[in-house]
Amino acid sequence: MSSLTVKHLFGLQDLPENDIDKILDTAFKFREVLDRPIKKVPSLKGKNILNLFFENSTRTKMSFELAAKRLSADVMNFSSSTSSLKKGESFKDTIQNLHSMKVDCIVIRHSSPGSCINLTNYMDATIINGGDGFHEHPTQALLDMMSLKEKFGKIKGLKIGIIGDILHSRVARSNIYGLIAMGAKVTVCGPANLIPRDVSDFGVDVCYDVDSLIERVDAVNVLRIQRERMGIGIVPSTREYRELFGINQERISKLNKKLVVLHPGPINRGVEISSEIADGENAIILDQVLNGVAVRMSVLFLLLGGQK
Ligand code: CP
Repeated sequence: MSSLTVKHLFGLQDLPENDIDKILDTAFKFREVLDRPIKKVPSLKGKNILNLFFENSTRTKMSFELAAKRLSADVMNFSSSTSSLKKGESFKDTIQNLHSMKVDCIVIRHSSPGSCINLTNYMDATIINGGDGFHEHPTQALLDMMSLKEKFGKIKGLKIGIIGDILHSRVARSNIYGLIAMGAKVTVCGPANLIPRDVSDFGVDVCYDVDSLIERVDAVNVLRIQRERMGIGIVPSTREYRELFGINQERISKLNKKLVVLHPGPINRGVEISSEIADGENAIILDQVLNGVAVRMSVLFLLLGGQK
């Protein structure tokens, strides 16, 4: 039985502030577990969690697996590229067969927006969205918010810039919903053709000049600019993108404050972020990764009604 107001975590668009608060508070408690010599609690002993990944992933897949193991759950990892989907088995048959193995929770990543919601047609397990196309990536935004809260002690009132391909980014969408719900001020920045026309309806500001953005925000979340969008008219070239929007030492050195830099990963070194910044003291990228385990422990624990 879920301890949140929702049974599934499809996204942050309609997730109440109280639920986000509860997830972050619980994540900070689990963060302490990760620092112990024995990094394991029995909270989800006997639960069976299936990671169902139809797209590549390093951070989300590994941290959901580790989170489940840290909570003493059993974990099954499904990879579409080595499954019987390759022999022509349908999505529905695949899901129904896996579900009949008594799965309590499915974490799904799929290129199709709404694929996580579609699963409810075939099963009654708890479903967590691990990224569905351009739609949402809720646990990424939750771990980003946890990392901001860890750094600043609060989220309310923070000024956050999100830089990059906002139009195609599930990370941007979930961050916008979550940060606005938690009282942050969000400004998006990127090439005009990669900013949704209706973005101000989400309650965010738009800025097309990254130097002016970084002067006015406390932290920036730098999105991966997909190389496949380069040089085909969407983004003219890697060099031009780096010059106009890349976060580098030269830009940051002009500021009279310490800008905090987040990136969801994977990073394109030398494109949206320079190596100096990615590996330097402004970046909290690896803190985000560790917090990702804690946030995913929290989400699994709260949705599956774990015992302390
Ligand atoms: N940030 C993120 O979702 O990374 P992966 O694609 O490696 O899971």
